[in-house]
Amino acid sequence: MQNPENIAASTHIAVDVVLDTAYQNISPAQWEKLFSVARKSKLEGFIADMFAGKHINLSEDRPALHSALRNLSKSPVMLDGKDVMPAVTEVWHRIEALCNKWVGITDVIHIGIGGSDFGPRLAIEALAHVPGIASRGMRMHFLANIDTAELARILDRAQPNSTRVIIVSKSFTTLETTMNAKAVVNWLKNSDCTHSQIAHSLYAVTANIPAAREFGIAEENIYPFWDWVGGRYSVWSAVGLPIALQYGFKNFEQFLAGAHAMDLHFKNAPLEQNLPVIMALALLHQQEAMGIKAYAAIPYADALDWFPKWLQQLDMESNGKSVDRDGKPVKHSSPVVFGSAGSNAQHSYFQLLHQGSDVVPIDFIAVRKPMSDRPEAVAHHRILLSNCLAQAQALAHGKKAENPNDVYPGNRPSNLILLPELNAFYLGALLALYENRAASLGALWNINSFDQPGVEYGKVLAKPIEKALLGDSHVEANDNIDAVTAARINLLNS
Ligand code: F6P
Repeated sequence: MQNPENIAASTHIAVDVVLDTAYQNISPAQWEKLFSVARKSKLEGFIADMFAGKHINLSEDRPALHSALRNLSKSPVMLDGKDVMPAVTEVWHRIEALCNKWVGITDVIHIGIGGSDFGPRLAIEALAHVPGIASRGMRMHFLANIDTAELARILDRAQPNSTRVIIVSKSFTTLETTMNAKAVVNWLKNSDCTHSQIAHSLYAVTANIPAAREFGIAEENIYPFWDWVGGRYSVWSAVGLPIALQYGFKNFEQFLAGAHAMDLHFKNAPLEQNLPVIMALALLHQQEAMGIKAYAAIPYADALDWFPKWLQQLDMESNGKSVDRDGKPVKHSSPVVFGSAGSNAQHSYFQLLHQGSDVVPIDFIAVRKPMSDRPEAVAHHRILLSNCLAQAQALAHGKKAENPNDVYPGNRPSNLILLPELNAFYLGALLALYENRAASLGALWNINSFDQPGVEYGKVLAKPIEKALLGDSHVEANDNIDAVTAARINLLNS
């Protein structure tokens, strides 16, 4: 699949993160063509515009400036003539002050969904047992689903007198979040907490400050972020508060630093050495060459089990679009993204990846150092890594056999992404690598990666259905409810 002389050329390093594309089966001539496609698509100009705060989110007439949230250099980031960094820095100071203020807290209930949930949840899980990262030992509860099972599980364990509640919602109108927040406030009211204790316990992170005030959050407990930060790109803002609270502000800073370092690489490296761009082009190639419709991200790190879920929203909400930035139908957009931690994944859906009738490219994500300091860690880690390498090799080369059942077709592309170790810095770098890859793909497909009009329609349709579900009369199909749904409502109401 890969000539040995090309192997060295397939290894790219940025921020000490290695990207090895040796099993992509892309020849030097094909790579050359891909880079020229990128240049023709004006990818370099798009990257410059993104960091310069140009309104690249055309439909909402906004920039996508999440990179400013991790701009630890504090160099000015101008938005419509005004530097955003003073406001960003002020929030950093407030987060640090809060870390020092919270003592004796047993439980934190973080209420938010989608982009207001995945990032902090992933980071809390990922850094939980990392050697050298001290946890403050609070129980971090993430409440996203409107299904009360999650609410019940959390409220069963939390202790009201020593609980803090963070309501996280860019819009502060998301139904799941506001209803869950009201339920948690009622739980506090029904405990022996005093009125002022409750007021002290409630925090909000939002771009809609008036709505947070109206909900009853004290002014000093509201942490702002801004409409130029997309929800799925918001973990770098105060949305990431749990990271700072649990692992200390220094680790939160390291998380931002890793992402910032990856941003500088993305902004400044030539396309041929640019990790996010190379990954985007490899995917583009596999779409054209193999017609791929899905790809998998498999972290060989149990601590990163939440990574594919975070990535699903990032990729599919950003680039799952059928029209381009000019409103014209697109030829390609985001493939379906899935994944989970290896080697568990091998014992689940790897059968299809090896012998299924569709080719599914894979990102194997591995970490050089063991991710715990258990005495067994070194031996277990070697086996984990050997599994990771073996899967990639088997997928690339396949296997001939007499019996067709035993044939592995091979020629199944994959990347290896290797982190030196799992810590806050490299977690930040990994997430920013994929964010910048998603932005590159959007630019190459000419898709606006920063809006999400497609998720709104279902929410609108839910309203009349909700009303009908609460009623006790027979429901007929109408303009808002079709015959199938009407029958289902009647079934549920019966
Ligand atoms: O419904 C999709 C979405 O708008 C996501 O883009 C967003 O991350 C999530 O809902 C939560 O939105 P909010 O932070 O405004 O509550």
